[in-house]
Amino acid sequence: STAGPKLGLARAGFSSGFGVLAATLGSAVGLGNIWKFPYLTGANGGAGFLLVYVLATLLVGLPVMMAEISLGRAAKANPISTLQALAPKRQPWWLIGVAGMLAAFLILSFYSEVVAWVFAYVFKAMRGSILSSDPQVTEAAFNALISDPLQSLLWQWGVLVFIGGILLLGVTKGIEAMTKKLMPILFLLLLLLCAVSLSLDKALQGLAFLFQPDFSKITASVVLTAMGLAFFKLSIGMGTMMTYGSYFRDDQNIPLTTVRVMSADLCISMLAGIAIFPAVFTFGFAPAAGPALVFITIPAVFSQIPMGQWLMVVFFVLAAIAATGAMLSLMEVPVVILHERLGLSRPKATLLTIGLLVVLGASCALSNSALADFKLFGMSMFDLFDFVSSNIILPAGGIFIALFVGWVWGVDKFSRSLTNHGQLHNQKLAQAVFFLLRYVSPALILVVMLKGLKFF
Ligand code: PFF
Repeated sequence: STAGPKLGLARAGFSSGFGVLAATLGSAVGLGNIWKFPYLTGANGGAGFLLVYVLATLLVGLPVMMAEISLGRAAKANPISTLQALAPKRQPWWLIGVAGMLAAFLILSFYSEVVAWVFAYVFKAMRGSILSSDPQVTEAAFNALISDPLQSLLWQWGVLVFIGGILLLGVTKGIEAMTKKLMPILFLLLLLLCAVSLSLDKALQGLAFLFQPDFSKITASVVLTAMGLAFFKLSIGMGTMMTYGSYFRDDQNIPLTTVRVMSADLCISMLAGIAIFPAVFTFGFAPAAGPALVFITIPAVFSQIPMGQWLMVVFFVLAAIAATGAMLSLMEVPVVILHERLGLSRPKATLLTIGLLVVLGASCALSNSALADFKLFGMSMFDLFDFVSSNIILPAGGIFIALFVGWVWGVDKFSRSLTNHGQLHNQKLAQAVFFLLRYVSPALILVVMLKGLKFF
């Protein structure tokens, strides 16, 4: 095979340190912050869930993220070739890459549908029909959208054509540059929403829900969900960060980049939470509304401000752009594998990926309409793809990545990659992260998975 550093010469990489940070942040920040984090926090009891999520991010997420990026940069290839190049012959660690590709398809199938709702909401917002603080009005608008099979499908196809177009036209760099400029606006809008939400009658109740843990609500399945969210948020456990690591420059500071990405990502999720929960309690939404939560609550917050209708249009446009960075990184895993492993040209690999997603994604798009009664393990396809990817494949991938670094790749090679061959002078940090990867992360993930999945 053509694995290994030689391939690296022919591959494009990120050109500047800021570009690396922006692209990595672009992968992490997305609908996970604006949609998934609030809805899971609401559905899993609030502050206790948040606490476990933050712990999982620090103890498991950060070390695994450093491991993935170090591996990718050391081998400068797609995840399958990276693991083949770094592992002894005949040890099947490359299967992590195969599982990652499967996870990418599952995640893109439901993620593209949530982006589809965001696209649809841009237009609904323009018409002004959803701007209301009456739960019945905003819920009816959302339900009308998701229970309409044709609208659900067409919007999803629009999203897939949009993403495919960006990749085929080779304008991902341009999109990343644009994202870089626009994300500060999203940040400001979120701050504005927080201010509005905090001025509402029951703001304190919302804050208490978000920040005052009720430890009795932390069950094994809540812990698994929180850990799954930590993986999903940081785009780890499936080779995405390994792939991005392969584009990192040799002088890029990996520990600093990961800490910055994690902090910024956490910060945006918190803002989304503070924008949403005070409104949830003030206007009488159900915190446990599920995937609908953001779509029914955000219009209510905007209904409280002058020009709210147009600010809401801007909000959903920016949410769509944030989601685009995440989708581009998700697409990168199957595309680069099909390209480098099966020899398909990048355009062909892209078309094949999009084609498969049209088919697989339809099962998620129709989960609330034509296929509403079609359930596996008691879940709709939308919920099942989400559950299997976040709570099974990504954590399992995390276990194997940690084990690979901790027991096969070894402390020397890991520290060398993490510290830019000793130039960063943070050997102590490298050793501490290595210790976590060798002993703590794999054991912790395994116990949480087995307990959460009710093996014992
Ligand atoms: N981190 C993204 C988000 O929170 O929206 C989702 C994601 C992107 C997950 C890329 C996994 C991935 F490989």
